[in-house]
Amino acid sequence: MATQPFSALRGPRCLPLFGNVLDYSRFGPYTFDRMHLAKEKNYIKYGDIYKEKFGPVVVVQLFNPDDISSVLKNEGKLPIRPPLPLLKAANRRDGIALGLGSLNGEDWWKLRKTVQKPLMHHRAGAAYLPAQEKVADEFMNVLDTIKDLNGSVANFEELILRYTMESIGTVCFNKRIGVLDENKKESRELFDSIKKQFAAVQRTYFAFPWFELYRSEAYREFLAAKTFSDKFAKDCIISSRRELTVDDTSPNLLKSLIDDTSISEREAVGIITDLFIAGIDSTASALSFLLYNLANNLREQSRLFEEIIDVVGTGKITADSFDKMPYLKACVKESFRLFFPVQGGTTRVLDKDLVLGGYAIPKKSFVAFNNQTMCLSRDYFSCPHKYIPERWLKRGSASTSPPHPYVMLPFGFGARMCIGRRFAEQEIYLAIAKLLQKFEIQENSSKPMGIINRVFNTPDRPLLIKLYKRSF
Ligand code: HEM
Repeated sequence: MATQPFSALRGPRCLPLFGNVLDYSRFGPYTFDRMHLAKEKNYIKYGDIYKEKFGPVVVVQLFNPDDISSVLKNEGKLPIRPPLPLLKAANRRDGIALGLGSLNGEDWWKLRKTVQKPLMHHRAGAAYLPAQEKVADEFMNVLDTIKDLNGSVANFEELILRYTMESIGTVCFNKRIGVLDENKKESRELFDSIKKQFAAVQRTYFAFPWFELYRSEAYREFLAAKTFSDKFAKDCIISSRRELTVDDTSPNLLKSLIDDTSISEREAVGIITDLFIAGIDSTASALSFLLYNLANNLREQSRLFEEIIDVVGTGKITADSFDKMPYLKACVKESFRLFFPVQGGTTRVLDKDLVLGGYAIPKKSFVAFNNQTMCLSRDYFSCPHKYIPERWLKRGSASTSPPHPYVMLPFGFGARMCIGRRFAEQEIYLAIAKLLQKFEIQENSSKPMGIINRVFNTPDRPLLIKLYKRSF
């Protein structure tokens, strides 16, 4: 079939100036925090590709893994992902250092190459396993202490956030930051500053960008909180530099950044705080969704428990324990499929003209991948709304043929794929293995869990999990 021009690409009707923004306001059928529901409907109506307009920006929505593969295989050395506008404004106006997530072009690559090897190497997580295991042990102790007589844990999500913050903080700052203990003053301030940054980014993500015109309230709150966490990172760098005379062979991301003469101290702060912040709520939400799935699928939980006991018993976890736990990995993957971690999927700005879905899409177009919709579609998975980890096992009972490799990309793909993937997975594996070693988990709620679209998708209701201590 002949390639159609870009102008022929269909999409929901839009207004001049606003585009489709009003569709997601009180004047329209959708909301920005449940955009995935709009995508599901539009996929049925328009098929594999359509366009939408948000103010002046045209977004090409992609729902076909072959098109996604085409975008990713054609990207150059410096793939472009649109940055978070609030961070860009804080950099431009107040000189806030940017990290990998918000930079593009040579500026991005200069920073990415400094941490690519220490973080992306396939054994990168192993070096930090003992430190992260201690954090997971402490998390279990806190859970054990605060659960009530029925096994319920109040505000489970906040505790999970504290766990992921402590765990990735140990990697980023090469020390325990102490946020699992909510009574410590310094760590409480750090925890609050991170929460304020998430809140400000959320408030401005889909709203009119007033902060571009003046220092809006959300902008000021963000700036104060970001300044606090940047100072924390800078202090860690300074104290790490003082200790460099000590012959220390333990893994130390901070030290490798300080040793790297190609980047300045300011750039090191930008990298570290970006890694730290990117690694907290992303992993916390993924862990919450996984707990929900396991607590509501007891047969799968019991199979996973048996695998954990077979490999590590009730004892310590070593660097290669997880290599022997295919079911654990399948459980995590299946949870990512049912509760895809990012709204839609990741995004790119094309750096060349491409034909996608039969249309000529020009260079510089903003394209959005919609793995979230594909992952829940019968077009790609049988019984798409059921939690079936077996479908990811090599000879799984539920597997028919393996899904297209570009349907499930929870960590993105290519040169810009998530740099913290190994640590995120390790934190999740550790928490689940430790938790199931100690407890059986159950959720007694008839209300299914839904998704709220944030920068990372989050649960739309509290976790109502009960912990039942195992007796050995
Ligand atoms: C379950 C947890 C996580 C998920 C689902 C996740 C997902 C993602 C995705 C989808 C991207 C965009 C990839 C692309 O555009 O191709 C990304 C980028 C990124 N992630 Fe993660 N992430 C997680 C945890 C982490 C952790 C623990 C860290 C820090 C150690 C981290 C740091 C980053 C950074 C810095 C980027 C930007 C990379 C770049 O543009 O070069 N993430 N992540």
